[in-house]
Amino acid sequence: MDVQRRDFLLTGTLAAAAVAGSAAAAQSANAPAAPGETRGSSILPGDEKVQYTGGTDVKRLKIINTAELEVEAEKILPKGGYGYIFGGSGAEYTKAENLRAMQAVGLEPHFLSGVLKPDLSVTILGSKLPFPIIVPPMGGQGLAHVSKEIGMAQGSQAAGTLMTLSMQSNNSLEEVAAAHPGPKWMQLYFPADRGYAREVIMRAKAAGYTAIVPTIDSTLAYPRDNNIRNDFRIPVSLGKGNAPKGEPDPVKASTIMNRRKVDLNWDDMVWIKEQTGLPVVVKGVMSPVTAKQAVERGIDVVWVSNHGGRALDGVPASISVLPRVADAVNGRVPIVFDSGIRRGQDVFRALALGANVVACGRPVLYGLALGGNLGAQSVLEYLRDDLYIVMQLTGTPNVKAITRDYVVQPRVA
Ligand SMILES: Cc1cc2nc3c(=O)[nH]c(=O)nc-3n(C[C@H](O)[C@H](O)[C@H](O)COP(=O)(O)O)c2cc1C
Repeated sequence: MDVQRRDFLLTGTLAAAAVAGSAAAAQSANAPAAPGETRGSSILPGDEKVQYTGGTDVKRLKIINTAELEVEAEKILPKGGYGYIFGGSGAEYTKAENLRAMQAVGLEPHFLSGVLKPDLSVTILGSKLPFPIIVPPMGGQGLAHVSKEIGMAQGSQAAGTLMTLSMQSNNSLEEVAAAHPGPKWMQLYFPADRGYAREVIMRAKAAGYTAIVPTIDSTLAYPRDNNIRNDFRIPVSLGKGNAPKGEPDPVKASTIMNRRKVDLNWDDMVWIKEQTGLPVVVKGVMSPVTAKQAVERGIDVVWVSNHGGRALDGVPASISVLPRVADAVNGRVPIVFDSGIRRGQDVFRALALGANVVACGRPVLYGLALGGNLGAQSVLEYLRDDLYIVMQLTGTPNVKAITRDYVVQPRVA
């Protein structure tokens, strides 16, 4: 029987009868952290007093390119918050490689194809989207803007696309669901405390999220230089929207939220499906081996991502592994791709190399910082319009038509 600390909180005396059998499991959730387990993400006493204000403007943005959004966001955001969003892990090799390798994929247009108006629409897990660009999970959006995840929800809803909410959101998943009636997915950093894991996914199901997205690349929070240098942790005062119910102490609640299941495995993924009956999207796939196992274990979507270079530094660019992952999946389940999407060309490259849908992280968050919901919407629409031009110029009438015939892949050493 797999009963842990949260089950005790939730079921009181009933659970007390199970104490003997579950003591070992409860202990593992409360055991001292392993080296590095809470590094970079733990909350220290006194942190709850730290105040923080992100961007406050609400306006449409005139976007020339997404690189300039980063420059503008740095001017308005507090140093620690900007560093948190901007940064990658370790030596930031992977973060840089995401952009470099992306540009190394050449486009091979088929001119004279007679395409008048490319159709950008796609369907994923039964949700029809007007264009193949979604919002990935990004924790602590209060760092970017005072409207937090509600602003992002309004912006992506207005653009007509799907939003994935991070479990580490400042607003609650219910508040975000109310601001985003359209299709939405819920991300999960699988907690060590299984009772809490169950609480989050069942709340998400009840609130209308249509898939659960366990992130598999961050069983330990990899240190990021910026956060260490700035002694930065996401301020508790911004809110812990999905904190465990029944734990009023914000520091203790953060500890439960941040303590992840380090020995995460495929049975945990299947457990999410069994509990919720919802499709499971495994985020952080960086190897054809993992992709093949995902399909074999009945996972519904493979999400190729290296977390924007924020998890294990030293892995290749996501775009570099995408073709081999796509070969392993062989069309059996859809593929979502992220890490390094900055222009319509990048969306096209990823679609050509096997993705069904892409997600764009930091640029959309900078949009939120600079213009709230309207800013996030502006970035999504900029990418949509840029993709439209690229599809017309390459001669691809719809998303399905974008294949490897339209790109020149760099030689992999
Ligand atoms: C500020 C920030 C917070 C993030 N938080 C999460 C998170 O809570 N869960 C998660 O799975 N990924 C998280 N990510 C990673 C994104 O989901 C996505 O993989 C990444 O941003 C894509 O790379 P890009 O920023 O180059 O587009 C975060 C990224 C950023 C920039």
